[in-house]
Amino acid sequence: MKLVPKSLNARPGKAESLPPGPLPELRKPVSRSRTIRIDFRNGEIAPESLMDKFVIRGGNPLVGSVRISGAKNAALPAMAAALLTDEPVILENIPDVRDIHTERNLLVSMGAEVELGYGRASHRTTISCSNLVNPEAAYELVKTMRASTLVLGPLVARTGRARVSQPGGCAIGARPIDLHIKGLERLGAAIKQEHGYIEASAERLRGGHIIFDKITVTGTEDLMMAATLAEGETIMENCAREPEVIDLAALLTKMGAKIEGAGTHTIRIHGVEKLHGARHRIIPDRIEAGTFVIAAVLTGGDLQLTNCDPSHLGSLIQKLEECGVSITAGTDSMRVTNGHQLVAADISTEEFPGFPTDMQAQYMTLATQAQGTSLITENIFENRFMHAGELARMGANIKVDGRRAVVRGRTPLSSAAVQCSDLRASASLVIAALVADGETIIDRVYHIDRGYERIEEKLKGVGAQIRRIGEILPRRAAAPSVVA
Ligand code: EPZ
Repeated sequence: MKLVPKSLNARPGKAESLPPGPLPELRKPVSRSRTIRIDFRNGEIAPESLMDKFVIRGGNPLVGSVRISGAKNAALPAMAAALLTDEPVILENIPDVRDIHTERNLLVSMGAEVELGYGRASHRTTISCSNLVNPEAAYELVKTMRASTLVLGPLVARTGRARVSQPGGCAIGARPIDLHIKGLERLGAAIKQEHGYIEASAERLRGGHIIFDKITVTGTEDLMMAATLAEGETIMENCAREPEVIDLAALLTKMGAKIEGAGTHTIRIHGVEKLHGARHRIIPDRIEAGTFVIAAVLTGGDLQLTNCDPSHLGSLIQKLEECGVSITAGTDSMRVTNGHQLVAADISTEEFPGFPTDMQAQYMTLATQAQGTSLITENIFENRFMHAGELARMGANIKVDGRRAVVRGRTPLSSAAVQCSDLRASASLVIAALVADGETIIDRVYHIDRGYERIEEKLKGVGAQIRRIGEILPRRAAAPSVVA
């Protein structure tokens, strides 16, 4: 194993500045597997990875081509859907991000066999839930990833019972799952909540009529999965219309489910006795694509994005065009060039097809570089401006008042030591550092590893000067299938 050259081996708390001139190349380890930093032990971050930081020298335009990974928020419900059948489900275009490893450990803890393939196995996973001995999602796993609650509906529908830890609070908001529970009750499940766990049981779920009080993405996904094995028809109204919901319905239909209306506010599911195995390719990650688009715009780059779906990013593309950006969109690629002075434009986050809340933080960084005043209204989560304070440390002019933020631009950003608070806030800081004058040190990048696949290598591949500081641990090529 090759160690980082001494000069870059940062000890906790002491950030060493980068030597002048081009950054020294890290010599690659001999094994075919690539070196990554995060070590997954039982879904937990290995202590040494908690110290990882990024050091970014700003001012380099992003030029070239970057391949977008599969969507984390489509892969997670798709992996949970495998619980609905005792036959293998094969998913392709799975992103290599930490949340996928947490989901794998969650399924394995229930008795599933999960094979995660990388490298030649092209981001494919094969999941077999023929032997679900323990329909429980333990607190240790759920606390690291709220999307673990997506197993609730499939477990009750398939095994007649589920014990799932309450996810608890989150940096961006309270995020209760009351609508998941209410929906399951409408499908005939008996629910008990005690000791921080939800216990759900039903002989067999029965079709029902669910009107969501509020549009919820994972709520729609969780109950759509549950209803596939319920007796009779289920009608769900005020559903989420996100591309990830449509992708899940496509997988479930391949598994033999009878679903109509996914992508609209009303979804009808005719329950069936049994579902079978299937093979499905996960859609590209629209939020990763949007993040790279904004990074290219702000660095004055010329970037081609491949393996993406511009039709999933309509509201973002429209907003950026309003700001003066030109984007050329193909069916599965996009080209972003920017030479124009950015002008300010207001946004308010909405459910799909409105402006995605998962792009709000990255857009705030853009607003700091646009001429004029941008009003940003966050309608989905009550506490999703944690990045504003960190951007202000870099010189941004931002006033936050509840769910509104006023950003005055254009303000040159200067490097500083900043820290991540959640996944998308981390992305906004990485973009800010790519623009800032000097070297920015970003702490707690384990947040970004949850949802961005090898972001520093992708950025470096198109000209960014970025380095991850921390211990290096070689990773085995492909995880062996684990039998509980
Ligand atoms: C999904 O979260 C995404 N996560 C989030 O992405 C995304 O921000 C969010 O949808 C909105 O687009 C996954 O798909 C795994 P919601 P989800 O239920 O489903 C309230 C990222 O960065 N609500 O649509 O948990 C809730 O508090 C993540 O990748 C209830 O009150 O979000 C929020 O205010 C972050 N009761 C609103 O609804 C419920 O039972 C929308 O939340 C459920 C939700």
